[in-house]
Amino acid sequence: MKNKIIQILKSHDGHMSGEEMSQKLKVSRAAIWKNVEELRHQGYEILAVPNLGYRLASCPDKLFPSEIQCGLKTKILGKKIIYFDSVQSTMEEAFRLGMEGSEEGTVVCAEGQTKGKGRLGRSWMSPKGKGIYMSIILRPNMSPGQASQLTLLSAVALCESVRRVTGVQATIKWPNDLLVGKKKLAGILTELNAEMDRVWFVVVGVGINVNTSLHALPEGSTSLKVEAKQSFLRVALMQDILESFEQWYERLAIQGFKAVTKRWRELSSTLGRRVCIHNGEKSLEGEAVDINEFGALIICNDDGVKMTHMAGDVVEV
Ligand code: BTN
Repeated sequence: MKNKIIQILKSHDGHMSGEEMSQKLKVSRAAIWKNVEELRHQGYEILAVPNLGYRLASCPDKLFPSEIQCGLKTKILGKKIIYFDSVQSTMEEAFRLGMEGSEEGTVVCAEGQTKGKGRLGRSWMSPKGKGIYMSIILRPNMSPGQASQLTLLSAVALCESVRRVTGVQATIKWPNDLLVGKKKLAGILTELNAEMDRVWFVVVGVGINVNTSLHALPEGSTSLKVEAKQSFLRVALMQDILESFEQWYERLAIQGFKAVTKRWRELSSTLGRRVCIHNGEKSLEGEAVDINEFGALIICNDDGVKMTHMAGDVVEV
């Protein structure tokens, strides 16, 4: 009912009387009033003028499914959104939903996370109401070996969205961190549920520092607000990311991984740079020369020997 009230108020210019609304929704005026009160509590600014009725003055910048889905131009991504005000990690929730058979494109998002997970066992700072923290469930028809394609694809989709919506010229650090200069703006975590030769589902977790202040971020990180010196509407950015993600996901199915790697190379700040890669006990320094057809990073050391790296942590030196 609350969603319907918001939809009606959004699509209506000027005021709408309680009487008209109660007729449209076939409920009492008291029920309308009660729901309007609850919506105000959620942060919607709904003005009530005697003899004229209700008018929506502003919406809260909350990642409510109704807000994200309003005008969202996707076919599968975000058709089902599970929202939490606070949760340990959207990855855990999405993985559980994946195990229960949730459909492809299901998105889990939260205003804040108390145990946000990063790559390589790290944590992800997720202050409430400041960033975008979401996990997307995909059911691609691919082998576990091909799943790294989604890692690079996610970075491309995210990077394009950030540039388009905010104008901040983010770049991709291999494999899928988003940087501004040398500072980390966003991270992506990909988790799989698979058998030897078949992926059952993939969860792509995206964390972006949107309106986060510098003091709430780990050292070496930044946010869109810090970079652009202005706040951004998280809803608009999340919608664009879902749309961009779906377009790239379709392109991968139709044109293959080459289309993704081509765009990845254009957006990356790693290639052509001197890097140090840490992989468990080992570390290696050299020039990052390219990525291969699996998305692995090719590093050329000072002796001219090329080595490929599928995983690890890259530092641009
Ligand atoms: C990284 O760069 O280390 C990856 C960070 C991924 C963070 C996101 S926030 C939403 C989702 N839920 C989590 O717990 N982690 C991912």
